Amino acid sequence: MAKMWAGRFQSEEKKEVNDFNSSISFDSRMYKEDILGSIAHATMLGAKGIISLDDSHLIIDTLGEILSDLESGKLEFDYEAEDIHMFVEAELTKRIGDVGKRLHTSRSRNDQVALDIRLYLRNKASETINKITDLLKVLIKLADNNKTTIMPGYTHLQRAQPITLANHLLAYAFMLERDLGRFKDSIKRMNYSPLGSCALAGTTYNIDREMVAKSLDFAGIVKNSLDGVSDRDFCLEIASSASIAMMHLSRLSEEIIMWCSWEFKFIELDDAYSTGSSIMPQKKNPDICELIRGKTGRVYGDLMTLLTMLKGLPLAYNKDMQEDKEAIFDALDTLNMCLDIINPMLDTMKVNKENMYKAAQKGFINATDLADYLVKKGMAFRNAYKISGSIVYYCISNDLVLENVSLDKYKEYSELFDKDVYEYINLENCTFKRTSKGASSIDSVNEQLEYLKEIVKE
Ligand code: ARG
Repeated sequence: MAKMWAGRFQSEEKKEVNDFNSSISFDSRMYKEDILGSIAHATMLGAKGIISLDDSHLIIDTLGEILSDLESGKLEFDYEAEDIHMFVEAELTKRIGDVGKRLHTSRSRNDQVALDIRLYLRNKASETINKITDLLKVLIKLADNNKTTIMPGYTHLQRAQPITLANHLLAYAFMLERDLGRFKDSIKRMNYSPLGSCALAGTTYNIDREMVAKSLDFAGIVKNSLDGVSDRDFCLEIASSASIAMMHLSRLSEEIIMWCSWEFKFIELDDAYSTGSSIMPQKKNPDICELIRGKTGRVYGDLMTLLTMLKGLPLAYNKDMQEDKEAIFDALDTLNMCLDIINPMLDTMKVNKENMYKAAQKGFINATDLADYLVKKGMAFRNAYKISGSIVYYCISNDLVLENVSLDKYKEYSELFDKDVYEYINLENCTFKRTSKGASSIDSVNEQLEYLKEIVKE
């Protein structure tokens, strides 16, 4: 195909060079944004008298036809075209001849591509927001159903203090709430139109950048023309929000992997969301969770690609920036795919309440409460802590749990012990009397749930 810059060049581009330069294999997915951007641009050119209204209308109508032909499959991408922008313009010119050649007046592919990515990411990141909200709803539902499901809470993966599954899952819900905030925030900062920056220096034509921005639902224009074509902060912000969200999904996946092991048996994944082994007949593997954990590294890689690609670039546009698309597309595709699958997987998993409860009965997870008992009877916490530690040691040496130690024995450690100690260190009490804000008591969990239910309603 003859290049648009053939006038300046004496020989044709080599095929290898064209292939190397080409981005249409991955930027073709922005065809709709490219066409809508061109329609907004042509409308403005007509309104400002930069091209005639007749030409503007013909261009707009034909772009509309190209869009619907692409969507219906009547028109296919020409992978010989260097990028989606060249393809659409060439197709337009093929259909309406010289009038089509007027479209690129006071525009460059530099501001065009910057516009396309912003439009594309605005939609894609909104999809992500919806998917995160859906996952949040599943967590809310699970928490609602497990307000009385007692389980051991861990630190250092050692049984620490009793909690409820509801409270544990709500921790993830709040991570997702922050993810939502980060994505919404990135979209807000990205939502300014770079069109009219042209190649880098703006233009001598009497363009109306605000008009274009408004018609494409931007909050305004990028105020500096060099910044308009060279800024990819929005890709970084979205890739970083995606990385953090993936990290959250990965931590949750890791817990699910442990919880469905024979060692824990806290949950069971639905068959439809598990896989077997080609050799070991007994296996039921949490592949989905492992893949989510694995794909997290890939999204971090996308963020690193973007950061590294940008770090040494002088102003304004450089072709290095063509590398932004595969990375940011991959980051969002991966996150969206993981959200799509983790959602029904969690929704269908079975919770083994009994095993969670049994695990909570072991490991002296009421030892803090034993100390707190003495504190409430007047002892200083440090002393109470020490005495409780000695009692735990005594239990371990004698194969006992705190609930089975006789009152006489307790009294050997402190005269403050009385028969109400058994009530005090009872697992249910230890869990549900934690009434401080954010804790596992029913009221504390309800308060968190109420807050989150408002978030997903918005
Ligand atoms: N395909 C290019 C990209 O993705 C479009 C912009 C090309 N601009 C240029 N001056 N070569 O960045």
